[in-house]
Amino acid sequence: MTDEQEQERVQPSGVWATAVGVARVRALETERENALFRDPLAQAFAAAGGLGPSSPTPSGDEAARRRRLGVMFSIVIRTKFLDDLLWQASASGIRQVVLLGAGMDSRAFRMDWPAGTRLFEVDTAEPLDFKAAVLRQERAVARCERITVPVDLREDWPGALAAAGHDPAVPTVWIAEGLLIYLPEDAVELLLARISAQSAAGSRMGLTLGSRGVIERFGADAAPGSAASMWVSEMPDDPVGWLAGYGWAADSHTLRERAAAYGRPIGTPPRREERPGGLISAVRR
Ligand SMILES: C[S@@+](CC[C@H](N)C(=O)[O-])C[C@H]1O[C@@H](n2cnc3c(N)ncnc32)[C@H](O)[C@@H]1O
Repeated sequence: MTDEQEQERVQPSGVWATAVGVARVRALETERENALFRDPLAQAFAAAGGLGPSSPTPSGDEAARRRRLGVMFSIVIRTKFLDDLLWQASASGIRQVVLLGAGMDSRAFRMDWPAGTRLFEVDTAEPLDFKAAVLRQERAVARCERITVPVDLREDWPGALAAAGHDPAVPTVWIAEGLLIYLPEDAVELLLARISAQSAAGSRMGLTLGSRGVIERFGADAAPGSAASMWVSEMPDDPVGWLAGYGWAADSHTLRERAAAYGRPIGTPPRREERPGGLISAVRR
């Protein structure tokens, strides 16, 4: 890329900058010998956003450092959880995938998809443009039909998705990863209602929800502009019941339980009583 092109590329800001931070975490995981997934494009997204491998980590006290490591760990576990969910959805015959708030998710490029799979990436225009520039630079080739849908999820995104070719009459697997925590509660409810209205029976869904109390624990002294400073909503007390109200049979998993299942057990005992977890898989009734 020339210096001119580099300067033209829009730089991460606001809520979508968090997507580049997530890519950096995936790049670090990819380097591990026993990586839970490999995301070969993650490093390029992070570097394009100014987050190189040797970028200084933000300053802060020991508690802040531990919180940061906790968030990084949760991103790795949720990525693996949703990779598995997508594999299972493909195996069940679903050929329509929608990534809501797709950010720098590179699953279209790094996962094996059955022939006929159409994958829609929904996010606002800026991150999708930034992503497209990096994908061009890396000469990345999608392994399914990939369709980007630039739209704000607070606007008429079902209309934009339908115009892009999504067919609500056949099952879809929906992913909202690291997204709902950035939307106020009424926007989360509206999003769920709209997803549900676009979901044929047998559709599936993978969600990540902010656990109860996380905003107070992480957000209170979060640095301005950091991901945690933009968190606004947490999971309901009973996520399974909540989703049943929208017509979904859901399971909730804790980070601790999934981490142990993936061979990355959390060494420290839980500090508080374990509540329902924020890793959700669901099937539309
Ligand atoms: C933490 S990132 C997660 C990205 C991706 N799901 C992943 O896990 O790699 C949050 C993403 O949600 C997107 N997002 C947040 N609010 C949005 C909105 N109102 N409309 C569309 N996208 C939104 C951001 O642009 C960003 O890409």
